[in-house]
Amino acid sequence: MKNINNMHTDFFRNPYPFYDELRSISPLYRTSLLKYKGVFVTGYEEAVTILKDTRFKNRIPLPQSTLKYESLKDTQNDMFLFKNGADHIKIRMLVNKAFTPRMIEAYRPYIAETANSLLDEMKLGGTMDIVSDFAFPLASSVIARILGVPAEDHQKFREWSIELIQTIDFMRSSKSLKSGNRTIGILINYFKKLIISKELYPAEDLISILIKEEKMTNEELIATCILLVIAGHETTVNLISNSLFILLNNEEQLLELREDLSLMESAVEECLRYESPTQMIARIAGEDVEMNGELIKEGEHVYIMLGAVNRDPRKFLHADQFNIRRDPNQHLAFGAGVHFCLGASLARLEAQIAISTFLERIPECTLADSQLKWRRLFSFRSLEEMIIHFHGK
Ligand code: HEM
Repeated sequence: MKNINNMHTDFFRNPYPFYDELRSISPLYRTSLLKYKGVFVTGYEEAVTILKDTRFKNRIPLPQSTLKYESLKDTQNDMFLFKNGADHIKIRMLVNKAFTPRMIEAYRPYIAETANSLLDEMKLGGTMDIVSDFAFPLASSVIARILGVPAEDHQKFREWSIELIQTIDFMRSSKSLKSGNRTIGILINYFKKLIISKELYPAEDLISILIKEEKMTNEELIATCILLVIAGHETTVNLISNSLFILLNNEEQLLELREDLSLMESAVEECLRYESPTQMIARIAGEDVEMNGELIKEGEHVYIMLGAVNRDPRKFLHADQFNIRRDPNQHLAFGAGVHFCLGASLARLEAQIAISTFLERIPECTLADSQLKWRRLFSFRSLEEMIIHFHGK
């Protein structure tokens, strides 16, 4: 078995053989490959069971004892993603008010308008980077609009979120933690000022609504803003880029989709399953739990490898085949249980609109290089860039 720190570039290009190897040994594979010993979960049923069992707790990615990265640790402690029980529910319910299906649906025209105007900016033909010229500005405009972040600050969020995502990746280095700790300080100051200005001049956005509710501490409010900005950026950018990458590599299905855009919803679900933007999440056992004859001890980590779970052949027929018509497709790309992704409907809508608009506006395009570079992240499936040559209209 490989050592995680020496993971070869091949792994980042295609992690699925490694996942298959783990699953063939056991869907619950005991590992000391990561910093904290634990169990790699590659089986679908096992993952669902763990995610729905509240004996498994969410926890901040940093050790509570750390003294080195205090700002990062304190902010993570205030993020509801890492909270459990009543503390989690309290904040999730408040934030969820801005993410109801009706609220999300209301963003449809704005998302379509933004996607179109980004493509208007492209010349009638040429070269573009799907990641930085299309997916990122689209996802960042949408989340910034929901929160009420000024448009001129979008670019900064890209840089900040690239840094912060590394601090929650399971392959993070002490260098990334150090710079993440610095960056989080900048973000805290940024949101402190923004909150003060919204207290003075409230608007219709989520930050103003949460201030008015007066149910969160200032620290919780800041941590929630940071969580939403990062969650709203990273994974959605990856979903849009990964989806276009898979489609451009599957010509027949791309053609089928171009001819029948009513397949879009099911195509996006398949992209979520096939190249899941979040590849791994973790829990910690709150007590001893027995599963498949294995004892998972209190305090032990479980690493749920969503990318592997979504290709479990016991759940998905021809799991390694991409099929835009797959039905049923009960993938776990957004997790499951009480921490099920709060932004799932938003991410789905953004991806459906982004891809439809792209296909309508760009009738012809090719990848500049079929061997693209994936970022060296263990927990996220993220392309560094994706250059295409295209003819637009
Ligand atoms: C393709 C896009 C996305 C993917 C694949 C994704 C994936 C996930 C996953 C797997 C979780 C569960 C984490 C866990 O249980 O440990 C999660 C939680 C979460 N996601 Fe997403 N997400 C996406 C987009 C978004 C967007 C657009 C937002 C916000 C605007 C968002 C906000 C959140 C939040 C706040 C949580 C924590 C929920 C809680 O703890 O109650 N996500 N997401």
